[in-house]
Amino acid sequence: MDERADSLVRAGSLPGDERDRALRPRLLSDFLGQEQIKSNLAVFIDAARDRGESLDHVFLIGPPGLGKTTLAQITANELGVDFKVTSAPALDKPKDLAGILTTVTERTVFFIDEIHRLKPAIEEMLYIAMEDYELDWIIGQGPSARTVRIPIPPFTLIGATTRAGMVSSPLISRFGIVQRFAYYANEELASIILRSAGILGVEIGKPAALALARCSRGTPRVANRLLRRMRDYAQVLGDGSIDERVIADGLKSLDIDALGLEKYDREILASIIENFGGGPVGAETLAISVGEALDTLEDYYEPYLIQSGLLQRTPRGRMVTDRAYAHLGMERKYGQDPRNDANERLLF
Ligand SMILES: Nc1ncnc2c1ncn2[C@@H]1O[C@H](COP(=O)(O)OP(=O)(O)OP(=O)(O)O)[C@@H](O)[C@H]1O
Ligand SMILES: [Mg+2]
Repeated sequence: MDERADSLVRAGSLPGDERDRALRPRLLSDFLGQEQIKSNLAVFIDAARDRGESLDHVFLIGPPGLGKTTLAQITANELGVDFKVTSAPALDKPKDLAGILTTVTERTVFFIDEIHRLKPAIEEMLYIAMEDYELDWIIGQGPSARTVRIPIPPFTLIGATTRAGMVSSPLISRFGIVQRFAYYANEELASIILRSAGILGVEIGKPAALALARCSRGTPRVANRLLRRMRDYAQVLGDGSIDERVIADGLKSLDIDALGLEKYDREILASIIENFGGGPVGAETLAISVGEALDTLEDYYEPYLIQSGLLQRTPRGRMVTDRAYAHLGMERKYGQDPRNDANERLLF
């Protein structure tokens, strides 16, 4: 796989993490971290199950790889109901959505990924399905066309997005439960790594798991991916067990630095410094200059760079911070920081 395709897989833009299936938690008790989301959902799931009702619609927001799809599947498992999956780009025509909704059974969990990409006609149809458990269906064409309402069983819609800002407020307001994912703490990621290592049958101690966690961008998908790579290094170059030396050598070979930054992360920061004087620069211009898709830049790379205190999103565009200069070992030249800019100083 070339680097670009690999970067898209990381960003979750290509279908399925097939090899991740074995590592995917099936019940809430296997889902580590995100304590607040978990405890909220546990209460709502218990209550709905006890009443024999469908769970209220759930909206999950968060960067790629933090467990939105996993949590949706877990919700269906915990409720003991059917699970149906699609993603918004796959719903091209109203009949695509109708085709799924007419097959839902009582209390089914219906998961729509990338829900910010729904087409308006599909979204309208979904409003009625969510609110009234009915499907508006137009029969015929022209003056003789008429709408019939087809009842569907009460179901639970779980919508997931990496871009809450792009979801319309009428849609958001129809979700009774809204939960926002945060990046995982290193301790939580270390627990996920230890659990995955147990499933894969690979030996790794707590200190090594923590060392790997620190370079996992707060993201379980990245943690599991790095664990698999370290397993390869340990198997071929060592005795099969993953220790801190294997990790240090492995990360170096993968070009991942102490903050968990990959080559592209550093290229993004370096490009802002070298080509745009440290910023501000608009996201579109930046995406072109680093040859990355705007979506991937905004969904995958930027949130972690911002979280790490290396990048700032300002109304005038993206700017690198002093920490980014220090991390890359680059010097801020006079006049590069707009705060030191002579022209701006003249204005005030
Ligand atoms: N809390 C967790 N505990 C253990 N493993 C987890 C957890 N969250 C996620 N994972 C692992 O990380 C992988 C990625 O999670 P998932 O596919 O659910 O992320 P996502 O938020 O849906 O990402 P995307 O936005 O790209 O669709 C899963 O296959 C699972 O193995
Ligand atoms: Mg997903």
